[in-house]
Amino acid sequence: MVITLDGPAGSGKSTVAKVIAKKLSLNQIDSGAMYRSYTHLCLSFAKEQKMKIKDVIDSKNFKDYLAKQKLVIEFHSGRQIIHLNGKDMEQFIRQPEITENIKFVADARFVREMVNEQIGVLAKDYSIIADGRDMGTVVFPNADFKFFLTASLEVRASRRLEEFKRINPEFTIDQVMREIEKRDHDDENREFGQLKPAQNAIFVDTTNLDLNGVVNVIINIIQNKR
Ligand code: C5P
Repeated sequence: MVITLDGPAGSGKSTVAKVIAKKLSLNQIDSGAMYRSYTHLCLSFAKEQKMKIKDVIDSKNFKDYLAKQKLVIEFHSGRQIIHLNGKDMEQFIRQPEITENIKFVADARFVREMVNEQIGVLAKDYSIIADGRDMGTVVFPNADFKFFLTASLEVRASRRLEEFKRINPEFTIDQVMREIEKRDHDDENREFGQLKPAQNAIFVDTTNLDLNGVVNVIINIIQNKR
């Protein structure tokens, strides 16, 4: 069983995927967390080399460095855990510095191929719900169910504001809206794996729905079609 959940930042994908994974006994693949982990690695390497991330991403030295790192993805009761050289990545990958630099890493074709391959290997062994930008278009064109989550920019920004405020209480809704607009633009315009709904994706507008509402809509669709 493969369910894909694509959509723009703040549309609720990861939160919804977590709940659905639990309810349907699936494993959740959060592909954004994987791109975030590779961005963490690329930033560490760029700092070590005293260079900019955009100048190291396609270098042979960075690819050699990556080959020596152990990025392992495991599921614990359906939740994805990413370990880098034995360390849980979660606390590192939600920092603003990662989000600001993710474009360079998510645009790199070889990184996308690595992530997609890792996800493909996991899907051979597990029933999954995978969320991201290109899960239904590139990674799982034959998924059993494909959903595309949307929400107004204002609602997406207000969902993200709480997260931002935990890092810096001074953040305003306008700043978050600008950050999301920039990310939408980057995600929709990259050469490979751009954000777009799969042709046969089911749209779910989450603007006026709470978490339970979105989960119920999706689960009803799955159960009715099965
Ligand atoms: O979903 P999340 O906000 O954690 O994703 C972080 C970033 O990773 C996105 O803005 C996007 O640039 C990139 N990404 C991607 N393809 C995916 C998932 C995430 O390019 N399938």
